[in-house]
Amino acid sequence: MEQQIQQPKKRIFSGIQPTGNLTLGNYIGALRNFSLLQDEYDCLYSIVDMHAITVRQNPAELRKACLRTMSIFIASGLDPKKNIIYFQSQVPQHAELAWILNCFTYMGELQRMTQFKDKSAKHADNINAGLFTYPVLMAADILLYQTDLVPIGSDQKQHLELSRDIAERFNGVYGDVFTVPDGYFPKVGARVMSLQEPTRKMSKSDPEETYIAILDKPEVIRRKMRRAVTDCDNTVVFDPENKPGVSNLMSILSALSGMSMEAISAEYDGKGYGKFKDAVADSVIAALEPIQKRYDEISADKAYLQEVLSDGAERASALAHRTMLKVRKKIGYAPFKL
Ligand code: AMP
Ligand code: TRP
Repeated sequence: MEQQIQQPKKRIFSGIQPTGNLTLGNYIGALRNFSLLQDEYDCLYSIVDMHAITVRQNPAELRKACLRTMSIFIASGLDPKKNIIYFQSQVPQHAELAWILNCFTYMGELQRMTQFKDKSAKHADNINAGLFTYPVLMAADILLYQTDLVPIGSDQKQHLELSRDIAERFNGVYGDVFTVPDGYFPKVGARVMSLQEPTRKMSKSDPEETYIAILDKPEVIRRKMRRAVTDCDNTVVFDPENKPGVSNLMSILSALSGMSMEAISAEYDGKGYGKFKDAVADSVIAALEPIQKRYDEISADKAYLQEVLSDGAERASALAHRTMLKVRKKIGYAPFKL
């Protein structure tokens, strides 16, 4: 029998900040799609606690947020056996490679980063060096695993571009050490907008009533939906330009139920916004309820979480170790064994 030659799977790496609450936007735009990738790609999801401390964190809160983020990931359908899910700080090679890459990154490049400019304006009392070199740590995250594809939102494009430049610069000096990563932009996945200002993206860093958290209880979801900003023409028609509020609710319903915009219009137009909003709330509740149930089980099961955590760190370390052996040799560090 002819043997099939298996192409190695492409590797995907993504980093997720462990702060705040993950939202319905994160679920529809990212998490839900992640679980569709797990068979086709070799995926790593790092909960980036090292990036998180570039702004002041309450230690107990940070610890909880890290575990909560990991539990939500698993509850949303990411299988920790098929994917590597781990905490960035538990794989010290991230810090090790970040230092080396710092020596291959120019001040001018980092000064141009718009996120640094925004964050230093927002945290004027704490413009620390970590905030400045944040993109270098991100490059280290990606390059450490010889990543092919990086799923990112548009706000992270500049950082990915810098990661590519650093990889190419390093490879230019030492030969092919790093895979040069590309962005990954999934076809599916609507952009979910704020419930109060539907021309802005729904974001976990905005006030509570503007977003739905993945862990929001049904009555909270219903209340937030009822208060969502719409308009006064009482028509359920998809028109993001003139009817951003209604169109956003339609996108949410469509993303969760699979109904087309036309079907949604046909079903709810002319019946008043109250009924329509209740239907959207129902679909959100139905989608989130099983996730919340699994979340409660997972977060109560310390032994299971411990296993995921140790296994993730171990598998990530093994991959990181391989890259670091190569890098250490190339830059001329003396070997452990002469
Ligand atoms: P962030 O929470 O901004 O760090 O984003 C984490 C991931 O969730 C990225 O892949 C984003 O593209 C996605 N995401 C965040 N907010 C939304 C949103 N409102 N609609 C769709 N996707 C989102
Ligand atoms: N900076 C990213 C954000 O704020 C998080 C992140 C850290 C990341 N390291 C990464 C994303 C590596 C992709 C790849 O969203």
